[in-house]
Amino acid sequence: MTPERIDLLLSNASRVISGSSGVHEGVSIAIDSGKIKAMGPASEIAGLFHPDEEVDASGKLITPGFVDSHTHLVFGGDRSSEFVQRCAGADYEDIAAAGGGIRASVRMTRETSLEDLVDQARPRLARMMAAGSTTIEIKSGYGLDLETELRMLRAIRELAKDCPAQIVATFMGAHETPDEYRQDKAGYLKLVCEEMIPAVAEEGLAEFCDVFCERGVFDPDESRMVLEAGKRHGLKPKIHADEMAASGGSTVAAEVGAVSADHLMKTPPEGIAAMKEAGVVATLLPGTTFYLSKPGYAPARQMLDSGLRVALATDRNPGSCTVESMLLIIGLAVQRMGMTPIEAIEASTFGGAFALGREKSCGSLETGKSADLILWDAADENQLVYEFANNLKRSVWAGGRRISDASANS
Ligand code: NIG
Ligand code: FE
Repeated sequence: MTPERIDLLLSNASRVISGSSGVHEGVSIAIDSGKIKAMGPASEIAGLFHPDEEVDASGKLITPGFVDSHTHLVFGGDRSSEFVQRCAGADYEDIAAAGGGIRASVRMTRETSLEDLVDQARPRLARMMAAGSTTIEIKSGYGLDLETELRMLRAIRELAKDCPAQIVATFMGAHETPDEYRQDKAGYLKLVCEEMIPAVAEEGLAEFCDVFCERGVFDPDESRMVLEAGKRHGLKPKIHADEMAASGGSTVAAEVGAVSADHLMKTPPEGIAAMKEAGVVATLLPGTTFYLSKPGYAPARQMLDSGLRVALATDRNPGSCTVESMLLIIGLAVQRMGMTPIEAIEASTFGGAFALGREKSCGSLETGKSADLILWDAADENQLVYEFANNLKRSVWAGGRRISDASANS
Protein backbone atom coordinates (compact mmCIF):
# COMPACT_ATOMS: atom_id res chain seq x y z
CA MET A 1 0.00 0.00 0.00
CA THR A 2 1.43 3.41 -0.96
CA PRO A 3 1.67 5.79 1.94
CA GLU A 4 -0.91 8.60 1.88
CA ARG A 5 0.31 12.18 1.45
CA ILE A 6 -0.36 14.43 4.44
CA ASP A 7 0.64 17.97 5.41
CA LEU A 8 2.50 17.24 8.63
CA LEU A 9 3.71 14.46 10.88
CA LEU A 10 4.77 14.98 14.47
CA SER A 11 6.75 11.84 14.98
CA ASN A 12 7.54 9.72 17.98
CA ALA A 13 6.64 12.03 20.86
CA SER A 14 7.79 10.48 24.10
CA ARG A 15 4.65 11.67 25.87
CA VAL A 16 1.27 12.95 24.67
CA ILE A 17 -1.39 14.29 27.02
CA SER A 18 -4.53 13.93 24.95
CA GLY A 19 -6.87 16.13 27.02
CA SER A 20 -9.59 13.48 26.91
CA SER A 21 -8.00 10.03 27.20
CA GLY A 22 -5.06 10.35 29.55
CA VAL A 23 -1.41 9.94 28.61
CA HIS A 24 0.09 8.08 25.64
CA GLU A 25 3.77 7.25 25.05
CA GLY A 26 5.79 6.81 21.83
CA VAL A 27 3.09 8.36 19.69
CA SER A 28 3.02 10.03 16.24
CA ILE A 29 0.32 12.44 15.12
CA ALA A 30 -0.63 12.79 11.44
CA ILE A 31 -2.14 16.14 10.42
CA ASP A 32 -3.84 17.12 7.17
CA SER A 33 -6.12 19.98 6.07
CA GLY A 34 -6.08 21.49 9.56
CA LYS A 35 -7.32 18.35 11.28
CA ILE A 36 -5.85 15.40 13.14
CA LYS A 37 -5.89 12.59 10.60
CA ALA A 38 -4.51 9.82 12.81
CA MET A 39 -2.72 9.32 16.10
CA GLY A 40 -1.10 6.13 17.30
CA PRO A 41 2.08 4.18 18.08
CA ALA A 42 4.97 5.68 16.09
CA SER A 43 5.82 2.35 14.39
CA GLU A 44 2.25 1.93 13.06
CA ILE A 45 1.82 5.51 11.84
CA ALA A 46 5.26 5.64 10.12
CA GLY A 47 4.33 3.31 7.24
CA LEU A 48 0.93 4.83 6.56
CA PHE A 49 1.77 8.40 5.61
CA HIS A 50 4.08 10.42 3.45
CA PRO A 51 4.23 13.88 5.07
CA ASP A 52 5.17 17.13 3.33
CA GLU A 53 6.80 18.13 6.63
CA GLU A 54 8.01 15.99 9.51
CA VAL A 55 8.86 17.28 12.98
CA ASP A 56 10.82 15.02 15.29
CA ALA A 57 9.11 15.02 18.69
CA SER A 58 11.30 12.39 20.34
CA GLY A 59 12.13 13.18 23.95
CA LYS A 60 9.35 15.77 24.02
CA LEU A 61 5.85 16.33 25.33
CA ILE A 62 2.78 17.21 23.22
CA THR A 63 -0.41 18.68 24.68
CA PRO A 64 -3.52 20.07 23.00
CA GLY A 65 -3.50 23.82 22.37
CA PHE A 66 -4.98 25.74 25.29
CA VAL A 67 -8.62 26.79 25.27
CA ASP A 68 -8.74 30.07 27.18
CA SER A 69 -12.48 30.23 27.76
CA HIS A 70 -12.68 33.49 29.76
CA THR A 71 -10.97 36.76 28.81
CA HIS A 72 -11.75 40.46 28.57
CA LEU A 73 -8.80 41.28 26.32
CA VAL A 74 -10.43 44.12 24.36
CA PHE A 75 -10.44 47.41 26.31
CA GLY A 76 -9.16 50.97 26.08
CA GLY A 77 -6.27 52.34 28.19
CA ASP A 78 -4.91 50.58 31.27
CA ARG A 79 -5.25 50.61 35.06
CA SER A 80 -1.62 50.33 36.10
CA SER A 81 -1.96 53.14 38.67
CA GLU A 82 -4.86 51.27 40.32
CA PHE A 83 -2.67 48.17 40.49
CA VAL A 84 0.04 50.10 42.32
CA GLN A 85 -2.58 51.57 44.70
CA ARG A 86 -3.81 48.08 45.48
CA CYS A 87 -0.27 46.91 46.13
CA ALA A 88 0.00 49.75 48.66
CA GLY A 89 -3.09 48.47 50.48
CA ALA A 90 -6.18 49.76 48.64
CA ASP A 91 -9.00 47.25 48.14
CA TYR A 92 -10.38 46.27 44.69
CA GLU A 93 -14.03 46.62 45.73
CA ASP A 94 -13.41 49.99 47.48
CA ILE A 95 -11.70 51.32 44.33
CA ALA A 96 -14.68 50.15 42.26
CA ALA A 97 -17.22 51.71 44.65
CA ALA A 98 -15.36 55.03 44.39
CA GLY A 99 -15.80 55.06 40.59
CA GLY A 100 -12.59 53.30 39.57
CA GLY A 101 -12.33 49.65 38.57
CA ILE A 102 -14.52 48.53 35.67
CA ARG A 103 -16.05 52.04 35.36
CA ALA A 104 -12.57 53.56 34.85
CA SER A 105 -12.00 51.16 31.94
CA VAL A 106 -15.46 52.05 30.61
CA ARG A 107 -14.55 55.74 30.45
CA MET A 108 -11.32 54.94 28.58
CA THR A 109 -12.97 52.42 26.25
CA ARG A 110 -15.73 54.85 25.27
CA GLU A 111 -13.01 57.23 24.09
CA THR A 112 -11.25 54.58 21.98
CA SER A 113 -12.07 54.08 18.28
CA LEU A 114 -12.76 50.67 16.76
CA GLU A 115 -9.40 50.73 15.03
CA ASP A 116 -7.54 51.59 18.24
CA LEU A 117 -9.38 48.91 20.22
CA VAL A 118 -8.21 46.37 17.65
CA ASP A 119 -4.65 47.74 17.57
CA GLN A 120 -4.35 47.69 21.37
CA ALA A 121 -5.68 44.13 21.60
CA ARG A 122 -3.50 42.65 18.84
CA PRO A 123 -0.23 42.36 20.80
CA ARG A 124 -2.07 40.74 23.74
CA LEU A 125 -3.66 38.22 21.40
CA ALA A 126 -0.31 37.54 19.70
CA ARG A 127 1.36 36.84 23.06
CA MET A 128 -1.46 34.53 24.12
CA MET A 129 -1.20 32.52 20.90
CA ALA A 130 2.60 32.31 21.12
CA ALA A 131 2.13 31.00 24.67
CA GLY A 132 -0.10 28.23 23.32
CA SER A 133 -3.73 29.44 23.38
CA THR A 134 -5.44 28.23 20.20
CA THR A 135 -9.06 28.99 21.14
CA ILE A 136 -9.77 32.26 22.96
CA GLU A 137 -13.05 33.67 24.25
CA ILE A 138 -13.35 37.48 24.49
CA LYS A 139 -16.10 39.45 26.27
CA SER A 140 -17.51 42.91 25.75
CA GLY A 141 -18.46 44.82 28.92
CA TYR A 142 -16.32 47.98 29.00
CA GLY A 143 -18.78 49.96 26.87
CA LEU A 144 -22.00 49.78 28.91
CA ASP A 145 -23.84 51.78 26.28
CA LEU A 146 -25.25 50.41 23.04
CA GLU A 147 -22.75 52.11 20.77
CA THR A 148 -19.61 51.11 22.68
CA GLU A 149 -20.76 47.56 23.42
CA LEU A 150 -21.34 47.06 19.68
CA ARG A 151 -17.95 48.65 18.95
CA MET A 152 -16.20 46.22 21.31
CA LEU A 153 -17.94 43.25 19.71
CA ARG A 154 -17.09 44.50 16.24
CA ALA A 155 -13.45 44.82 17.39
CA ILE A 156 -13.62 41.17 18.49
CA ARG A 157 -15.04 40.23 15.08
CA GLU A 158 -12.19 42.15 13.44
CA LEU A 159 -9.59 40.32 15.54
CA ALA A 160 -11.15 36.99 14.57
CA LYS A 161 -10.65 37.65 10.83
CA ASP A 162 -7.58 35.77 9.59
CA CYS A 163 -6.70 34.80 13.16
CA PRO A 164 -5.25 31.28 13.28
CA ALA A 165 -6.76 30.82 16.74
CA GLN A 166 -10.51 30.37 17.08
CA ILE A 167 -12.09 33.47 18.65
CA VAL A 168 -15.39 33.20 20.54
CA ALA A 169 -17.39 36.34 21.39
CA THR A 170 -19.47 36.96 24.52
CA PHE A 171 -21.75 39.95 25.18
CA MET A 172 -21.35 41.26 28.74
CA GLY A 173 -23.33 44.51 28.86
CA ALA A 174 -24.23 43.57 32.45
CA HIS A 175 -20.63 43.86 33.69
CA GLU A 176 -21.39 46.91 35.88
CA THR A 177 -23.89 49.79 36.07
CA PRO A 178 -22.40 52.76 34.19
CA ASP A 179 -21.94 56.21 35.79
CA GLU A 180 -25.00 57.73 34.09
CA TYR A 181 -27.33 55.01 35.47
CA ARG A 182 -26.00 54.86 39.06
CA GLN A 183 -29.38 56.05 40.39
CA ASP A 184 -31.39 53.87 37.99
CA LYS A 185 -30.06 50.32 37.83
CA ALA A 186 -33.47 49.04 36.67
CA GLY A 187 -33.31 51.49 33.76
CA TYR A 188 -29.87 50.19 32.79
CA LEU A 189 -31.03 46.56 32.93
CA LYS A 190 -33.97 47.47 30.69
CA LEU A 191 -31.50 48.94 28.19
CA VAL A 192 -29.38 45.76 28.32
CA CYS A 193 -32.35 43.40 27.89
CA GLU A 194 -34.50 45.39 25.49
CA GLU A 195 -32.00 47.21 23.30
CA MET A 196 -28.48 45.82 23.58
CA ILE A 197 -29.25 42.07 23.51
CA PRO A 198 -31.59 42.33 20.49
CA ALA A 199 -29.05 44.50 18.61
CA VAL A 200 -26.15 42.13 19.38
CA ALA A 201 -28.20 39.11 18.30
CA GLU A 202 -29.47 40.86 15.18
CA GLU A 203 -25.91 41.56 14.01
CA GLY A 204 -24.74 38.06 15.01
CA LEU A 205 -21.95 39.56 17.12
CA ALA A 206 -21.89 37.14 20.06
CA GLU A 207 -22.53 33.51 20.91
CA PHE A 208 -22.77 33.87 24.70
CA CYS A 209 -24.26 36.34 27.19
CA ASP A 210 -22.50 36.88 30.53
CA VAL A 211 -23.39 38.82 33.70
CA PHE A 212 -21.44 39.83 36.84
CA CYS A 213 -23.53 38.39 39.70
CA GLU A 214 -21.83 39.87 42.78
CA ARG A 215 -22.57 41.89 45.88
CA GLY A 216 -22.75 45.55 44.85
CA VAL A 217 -23.09 44.70 41.15
CA PHE A 218 -26.04 42.53 39.99
CA ASP A 219 -28.04 40.30 42.34
CA PRO A 220 -29.41 36.82 41.44
CA ASP A 221 -32.80 38.15 40.23
CA GLU A 222 -31.18 40.78 38.03
CA SER A 223 -28.66 38.25 36.70
CA ARG A 224 -31.39 35.73 35.90
CA MET A 225 -33.34 38.42 34.04
CA VAL A 226 -30.35 39.29 31.82
CA LEU A 227 -29.48 35.67 31.06
CA GLU A 228 -33.12 34.77 30.27
CA ALA A 229 -33.31 37.77 27.91
CA GLY A 230 -30.10 36.54 26.24
CA LYS A 231 -31.57 33.06 25.86
CA ARG A 232 -34.68 34.45 24.16
CA HIS A 233 -32.35 35.90 21.52
CA GLY A 234 -30.23 32.77 21.11
CA LEU A 235 -27.31 33.81 23.34
CA LYS A 236 -26.10 30.98 25.57
CA PRO A 237 -25.71 31.90 29.27
CA LYS A 238 -22.47 32.26 31.20
CA ILE A 239 -22.09 33.92 34.60
CA HIS A 240 -19.42 35.53 36.81
CA ALA A 241 -20.42 33.88 40.08
CA ASP A 242 -19.36 33.86 43.74
CA GLU A 243 -16.11 35.78 43.15
CA MET A 244 -15.87 38.09 46.18
CA ALA A 245 -18.80 36.64 48.14
CA ALA A 246 -21.25 33.74 47.92
CA SER A 247 -23.82 35.81 46.03
CA GLY A 248 -26.11 33.08 44.69
CA GLY A 249 -24.47 33.03 41.25
CA SER A 250 -23.80 29.30 41.13
CA THR A 251 -27.46 28.60 41.90
CA VAL A 252 -28.58 31.00 39.15
CA ALA A 253 -26.17 29.21 36.77
CA ALA A 254 -27.91 25.91 37.49
CA GLU A 255 -31.41 27.43 37.21
CA VAL A 256 -30.86 29.03 33.80
CA GLY A 257 -28.79 26.10 32.45
CA ALA A 258 -25.61 28.16 32.04
CA VAL A 259 -22.86 26.60 29.94
CA SER A 260 -20.38 27.70 32.61
CA ALA A 261 -20.14 29.57 35.91
CA ASP A 262 -16.83 31.36 36.35
CA HIS A 263 -14.60 32.52 39.27
CA LEU A 264 -16.38 30.54 42.07
CA MET A 265 -13.85 31.49 44.77
CA LYS A 266 -16.62 31.55 47.40
CA THR A 267 -18.99 28.90 46.08
CA PRO A 268 -20.79 27.06 48.92
CA PRO A 269 -21.33 23.26 48.84
CA GLU A 270 -24.97 23.70 47.75
CA GLY A 271 -23.76 25.72 44.74
CA ILE A 272 -21.38 22.91 43.78
CA ALA A 273 -24.21 20.37 44.08
CA ALA A 274 -26.59 22.51 42.00
CA MET A 275 -24.01 22.99 39.23
CA LYS A 276 -23.24 19.26 39.17
CA GLU A 277 -26.93 18.41 38.86
CA ALA A 278 -27.41 20.90 35.99
CA GLY A 279 -24.18 20.03 34.13
CA VAL A 280 -22.67 23.53 34.47
CA VAL A 281 -18.90 23.72 33.81
CA ALA A 282 -16.98 25.29 36.73
CA THR A 283 -14.45 27.71 35.22
CA LEU A 284 -11.72 28.62 37.70
CA LEU A 285 -9.53 31.71 37.32
CA PRO A 286 -6.66 31.41 39.82
CA GLY A 287 -4.71 34.20 38.08
CA THR A 288 -7.33 36.64 39.39
CA THR A 289 -7.10 35.38 42.96
CA PHE A 290 -3.32 35.76 42.72
CA TYR A 291 -3.37 39.18 41.03
CA LEU A 292 -5.88 40.56 43.57
CA SER A 293 -3.84 39.05 46.44
CA LYS A 294 -6.96 37.33 47.77
CA PRO A 295 -6.43 34.65 50.41
CA GLY A 296 -8.89 32.03 49.18
CA TYR A 297 -8.61 30.16 45.89
CA ALA A 298 -11.67 28.40 44.43
CA PRO A 299 -12.35 24.99 46.04
CA ALA A 300 -11.11 23.06 43.00
CA ARG A 301 -10.49 19.83 44.89
CA GLN A 302 -14.07 19.67 46.23
CA MET A 303 -15.39 20.44 42.76
CA LEU A 304 -13.32 17.76 41.04
CA ASP A 305 -14.02 15.21 43.75
CA SER A 306 -17.75 15.84 43.43
CA GLY A 307 -17.54 15.09 39.70
CA LEU A 308 -17.97 18.64 38.38
CA ARG A 309 -16.32 19.38 35.04
CA VAL A 310 -13.66 22.03 35.68
CA ALA A 311 -12.11 24.49 33.21
CA LEU A 312 -9.17 26.83 33.81
CA ALA A 313 -8.82 30.21 32.10
CA THR A 314 -6.78 33.41 32.41
CA ASP A 315 -9.54 36.07 32.87
CA ARG A 316 -7.06 38.44 31.13
CA ASN A 317 -8.49 41.94 31.74
CA PRO A 318 -7.22 45.44 32.63
CA GLY A 319 -8.08 45.36 36.35
CA SER A 320 -8.23 42.08 38.19
CA CYS A 321 -5.75 39.96 36.17
CA THR A 322 -3.26 40.78 33.44
CA VAL A 323 -1.95 37.20 33.18
CA GLU A 324 -2.01 35.96 29.58
CA SER A 325 -0.15 32.66 29.89
CA MET A 326 -2.23 29.53 30.40
CA LEU A 327 0.92 27.77 31.64
CA LEU A 328 1.11 30.25 34.52
CA ILE A 329 -2.56 29.49 35.29
CA ILE A 330 -1.78 25.75 35.27
CA GLY A 331 1.09 26.33 37.68
CA LEU A 332 -1.16 28.26 40.06
CA ALA A 333 -3.86 25.59 39.82
CA VAL A 334 -1.36 22.91 40.82
CA GLN A 335 0.45 24.95 43.46
CA ARG A 336 -2.49 26.76 45.07
CA MET A 337 -5.61 24.70 44.33
CA GLY A 338 -4.42 21.14 44.77
CA MET A 339 -5.00 20.06 41.18
CA THR A 340 -2.64 17.46 39.71
CA PRO A 341 -0.61 18.49 36.62
CA ILE A 342 -2.75 16.24 34.40
CA GLU A 343 -6.01 17.60 35.86
CA ALA A 344 -4.80 21.16 35.29
CA ILE A 345 -3.76 20.49 31.68
CA GLU A 346 -7.08 18.74 30.95
CA ALA A 347 -9.01 21.64 32.51
CA SER A 348 -7.05 24.09 30.31
CA THR A 349 -7.82 22.20 27.12
CA PHE A 350 -10.81 19.84 27.05
CA GLY A 351 -12.42 21.57 30.07
CA GLY A 352 -12.20 24.93 28.30
CA ALA A 353 -13.70 23.40 25.15
CA PHE A 354 -16.71 22.23 27.21
CA ALA A 355 -17.02 25.72 28.72
CA LEU A 356 -17.40 27.05 25.16
CA GLY A 357 -19.60 24.23 23.85
CA ARG A 358 -16.80 23.19 21.49
CA GLU A 359 -15.87 19.83 22.98
CA LYS A 360 -16.64 18.06 19.70
CA SER A 361 -14.26 20.18 17.61
CA CYS A 362 -11.29 21.13 19.79
CA GLY A 363 -9.62 20.78 23.20
CA SER A 364 -8.28 17.24 22.82
CA LEU A 365 -6.04 15.23 20.52
CA GLU A 366 -8.42 12.89 18.72
CA THR A 367 -8.87 11.90 15.09
CA GLY A 368 -11.08 14.38 13.26
CA LYS A 369 -10.53 17.26 15.67
CA SER A 370 -8.85 20.56 14.87
CA ALA A 371 -5.05 20.19 14.79
CA ASP A 372 -4.43 22.54 17.73
CA LEU A 373 -1.36 21.41 19.64
CA ILE A 374 1.77 22.40 21.49
CA LEU A 375 5.14 20.66 21.22
CA TRP A 376 7.06 21.44 24.40
CA ASP A 377 10.79 21.46 25.01
CA ALA A 378 10.03 19.40 28.11
CA ALA A 379 9.82 15.68 28.73
CA ASP A 380 6.71 15.56 30.88
CA GLU A 381 3.97 17.46 32.71
CA ASN A 382 5.99 17.66 35.93
CA GLN A 383 8.64 19.72 34.11
CA LEU A 384 5.92 21.97 32.72
CA VAL A 385 4.44 22.87 36.09
CA TYR A 386 7.89 23.13 37.68
CA GLU A 387 8.83 25.79 35.09
CA PHE A 388 5.39 27.44 35.03
CA ALA A 389 6.61 31.01 35.44
CA ASN A 390 9.23 30.67 32.71
CA ASN A 391 8.98 31.18 28.99
CA LEU A 392 9.57 27.50 28.18
CA LYS A 393 10.24 26.89 24.53
CA ARG A 394 7.26 25.58 22.61
CA SER A 395 6.00 25.23 19.05
CA VAL A 396 2.31 25.88 18.57
CA TRP A 397 -0.05 24.79 15.76
CA ALA A 398 -3.60 26.11 15.41
CA GLY A 399 -5.81 24.43 12.83
CA GLY A 400 -2.68 22.74 11.47
CA ARG A 401 -0.95 26.09 10.94
CA ARG A 402 2.29 26.67 12.83
CA ILE A 403 1.87 29.91 14.76
CA SER A 404 4.94 29.76 16.95
CA ASP A 405 8.21 27.98 16.37
CA ALA A 406 10.53 27.02 19.23
CA SER A 407 13.45 26.34 16.88
CA ALA A 408 13.15 29.86 15.41
CA ASN A 409 13.86 31.57 18.76
CA SER A 410 16.70 29.37 19.91
O1 NIG B 1 -13.65 38.75 35.56
N1 NIG B 1 -15.20 40.16 37.83
C1 NIG B 1 -15.57 40.95 36.96
N2 NIG B 1 -14.97 41.27 35.84
C2 NIG B 1 -13.60 41.09 35.58
C3 NIG B 1 -12.75 42.18 36.12
C4 NIG B 1 -12.96 43.40 35.43
C5 NIG B 1 -12.04 44.54 35.79
O2 NIG B 1 -11.60 44.75 36.94
O3 NIG B 1 -11.84 45.28 34.84
C6 NIG B 1 -13.16 39.74 36.10
O4 NIG B 1 -12.35 39.63 37.02
FE1 FE C 1 -14.11 37.95 33.99
